[in-house]
Amino acid sequence: MNKIIVSIDGPSGSGKEKIARYISKKYDFFHLDSGILYRRITSIIIKKKIEIDNKKNLTNFLNSIKYLSSRKHKSLRKEDVSNQTSLVAKSAIIRNFINSQQKIIVKKMLKNHAGCVIDGRDIGSKVFKNAKIKLFIRVKPRIRAERRHKQLIEQGEKSIYSRIFKDINLRDKTDKNRRESPLIVPKKAYIIDNSKSFKNTISQINSIFKKVVK
Ligand code: CDP
Repeated sequence: MNKIIVSIDGPSGSGKEKIARYISKKYDFFHLDSGILYRRITSIIIKKKIEIDNKKNLTNFLNSIKYLSSRKHKSLRKEDVSNQTSLVAKSAIIRNFINSQQKIIVKKMLKNHAGCVIDGRDIGSKVFKNAKIKLFIRVKPRIRAERRHKQLIEQGEKSIYSRIFKDINLRDKTDKNRRESPLIVPKKAYIIDNSKSFKNTISQINSIFKKVVK
């Protein structure tokens, strides 16, 4: 089997990560969550008080980072990081940096994995245009907000539904309307409806893989 790249794009809270984890486990593919890279760089920018409008300083700062870890950490999911990330992700300089980091990680991981599954906003449309399978995940904002609200409550965190709904809509708007790599349905992408049960989603995914992965 040739090495396979699977891209998964979709809006915030559409369940890309869970789908990516399923594919990664089933096919022994490496899973790269590109959102983590955007979140990690944002968290460093907040801590170091880097002004992203100062292009020279921003470039110098990014040049000082050789390898950005894609490891998950609870702190990267905090509300301030989440809200700042889509603002930081508008910058072309940041996006170029994250794109090259993604290519470095995938190249390295393909050496000992059958494939890579990468989730984000611009994976199939920009970063890995040659992905063998491109998925685009759809779920209505109301359902996404309900799911996130429930998840936060279950984790024992405070959550106000109306605020979650507002944040999700705001992030969608920022991601879809930005000039650099807006969230779009990539050409030749399969649209997955993830608003019903996960079992339903899995059966949509499995029928695509059956056709493409021999
Ligand atoms: O978990 P959630 O879907 O809410 O977000 P995420 O995938 O962790 O990504 C956080 C933010 O990073 C998004 O709202 C986007 O603004 C940005 N992002 C991006 O611009 N391009 C990507 N490939 C991945 C994330």
